[in-house]
Amino acid sequence: MADSTMNLMLSNQGRNASNIPHNRNRKHSLEKGRHQGISSFSQSILNIMNSKKSIDLLNKAVADELQAVHQYMYWHFHLDDQGFAPLAGMFKRIAIMEMGHVERLADRILFLKGDVVMEVAGPVEKITEAQKILSKAAEMEQAGVTSYNQFALQCSQNADAVSKQLFEALVNDEESHFDEFDKQLENIKRFGPNYLALQSFNKAPEQPAEAD
Ligand SMILES: [Fe+2]
Ligand SMILES: [Fe+2]
Repeated sequence: MADSTMNLMLSNQGRNASNIPHNRNRKHSLEKGRHQGISSFSQSILNIMNSKKSIDLLNKAVADELQAVHQYMYWHFHLDDQGFAPLAGMFKRIAIMEMGHVERLADRILFLKGDVVMEVAGPVEKITEAQKILSKAAEMEQAGVTSYNQFALQCSQNADAVSKQLFEALVNDEESHFDEFDKQLENIKRFGPNYLALQSFNKAPEQPAEAD
């Protein structure tokens, strides 16, 4: 092989050999840069606010939502057992929505680098009479609306607009739950025992909505 050809091959090998690690290094450094960019961005968000304050509020809400899930499923079982299929279905559907709330709160807690404390706010109350169930459920939703409005305000003061918006969205849902329970209570007051009797004749349970 002529010296000039050998020199050309060595020179190409050298260039190829140096190109491969160079490209790999460049790709690696771009990916590293992207991750560093995200982490420094999220770090800068965490620096602006007191993330612990938000995480504590979000975990309080998780505890309340878990209590609602347990309580509403307990009422679903009892109302179903008593033959009130539509009311039983309504409690199951709303329990699934409350579980969706837990998930949304958990997502935000993890984004803020906290952990989800899966503790229930309180025990299940052994109320089994339909009208009393609806009164208690309406009361729980009203308490939720009050708490979440306050939590939204505190998140705003803590420069945490995303958690504030999450609490505002939950207020909207809890108000609609209150409205559903309140309408059922109104119907019982207006039509008396006949209304519940009609509920027991209607055997078609409400279909639970798909969870978020
Ligand atoms: Fe909820
Ligand atoms: Fe609710």
